[in-house]
Amino acid sequence: MSDPVVAAIDQGTTSTRCILFDQAGRLVSVAQHEHAQLHPLPGWAEHDALEVWRNVQRVVPEALARAGASASDVVALGIANQRETTVLWDPRTGRPYGHAVTWQDLRTADLVERLAADGGRERVRELCGLPMATYFSAPRVRWLLDATPGLRARAEAGEVLFGTMESWLVWNLTGGPDGGVHVTDVTNASRTMLMDLHTLSWSPELCDVFDVPMAVLPEIRSSSEVYGEMRRVLPGVRIAAALGDQQAALFGQTCFSPGEAKCTYGTGSFVLLNTGRAPVTSRHGLIPTVAYRIGDQPAVYALEGAIAVTGSLVQWFRDNLGMISSAPEIETLATTVDDNGGCYIVPAFSGLFAPWWRAEARGVVVGLTSYITRGHLARAVLEATAWQTRDVVDAMDADSGVALRAMKVDGGMTSNNLLMQTVADVLGVPVVRPMVSETVSLGAAYAAGLAVGYWPDLEGLRRNWHRAAEWQPSMPEARRRREHEDWKRAVEHSFGWARS
Ligand code: G3P
Repeated sequence: MSDPVVAAIDQGTTSTRCILFDQAGRLVSVAQHEHAQLHPLPGWAEHDALEVWRNVQRVVPEALARAGASASDVVALGIANQRETTVLWDPRTGRPYGHAVTWQDLRTADLVERLAADGGRERVRELCGLPMATYFSAPRVRWLLDATPGLRARAEAGEVLFGTMESWLVWNLTGGPDGGVHVTDVTNASRTMLMDLHTLSWSPELCDVFDVPMAVLPEIRSSSEVYGEMRRVLPGVRIAAALGDQQAALFGQTCFSPGEAKCTYGTGSFVLLNTGRAPVTSRHGLIPTVAYRIGDQPAVYALEGAIAVTGSLVQWFRDNLGMISSAPEIETLATTVDDNGGCYIVPAFSGLFAPWWRAEARGVVVGLTSYITRGHLARAVLEATAWQTRDVVDAMDADSGVALRAMKVDGGMTSNNLLMQTVADVLGVPVVRPMVSETVSLGAAYAAGLAVGYWPDLEGLRRNWHRAAEWQPSMPEARRRREHEDWKRAVEHSFGWARS
């Protein structure tokens, strides 16, 4: 028996975690398992949804065991998840139709081009706020329905369910084929390209554009309410929240007021700025998205700058190039040199996302000379994350007309001091990390705890936020300006590389 806790599942791109939090928002215990990254063809990126579901069934009891807790100590469960990753499954058996197609997958590039050329681009953006890009779910649903023989007919007959990862997990946890609840939350729905961003309901017009039968869609619910009781894993415990992981991090950072922003450094990195109760149209390549909706209160929106490749560039440096044997080693290697030696890496592995949205961009390394060592490359890898953050923050400043004064950060990469110092240097503002850097899980826990009365209100959550570390900018302005120019030239070299 332990004190009551809230459990959060963070179903991310590379792993699935369960974290328990106490009433002060402190981390009580954590368990984590990675799942395979499947790349059957260049540009394709898949996950086995059953493997992810098995990992959920392992991490939740493991986190409880580590805390000496049992199901009766868990007041509610919240889920945060990698967004846009698309699963189709058979409601009668619970078996997915093929692998989940992830947000990094590029197989829909031609389809997206075609739909955009047909005049879809502006109409789609008006309705869902999103640019036509391979990043979002709808083109993947269409691709799967078209590529799998007989699947479209089955979908029309009600034999196919679509979901992003939270939807897949809620359905399984609440019983699967035996009465599972088929829901999504409004933040995840806002990334599908099928939801009207203003009415927060599925748009028949968008379903028509992407040829997605409405029968496959889950019910859209708020981010903080009881969706149902678990029948598997923790029977009887209520599932009371779901949010896309980046929205969950904004919530966990307690960015509840317009103007508050955070950046989460994970596989990719995502800057979100709370913009209040109305979606803001970006003129500089950012995405309006739903930040959260608590029960039947009005939705709160955000502007987002999504960067596809940051932590995954470090993984690539480790796994594909073998330059380091563990991710933390990159900091040691990068500190063997004072600067990048003139070398820049633009990791446009999946094209470039915000603020560029260039699907045909591909990665480049520029400025190589015989002087460049592994250390310079390591530094260029870290700087790529910092400069990509700068590009997004510049777009945010331009859209909002207000210069950012400090950046709240979280996520795995924030344990890299050199990186955080570099981010402060290239942004020219302080970078601040909270005590609990697991803000994705914390946000899901907060939203679930609010729904069941474990936490009374948002102000109570704000009081749980405590600063753990701060990095002050120390790069001279002239150097910042010069290196920024060099970075922008490097980015231009990545444009237009892929042949169509
Ligand atoms: O939009 C994709 C994002 O949600 C993935 O986040 O942290 O799982 O890489 P992460």
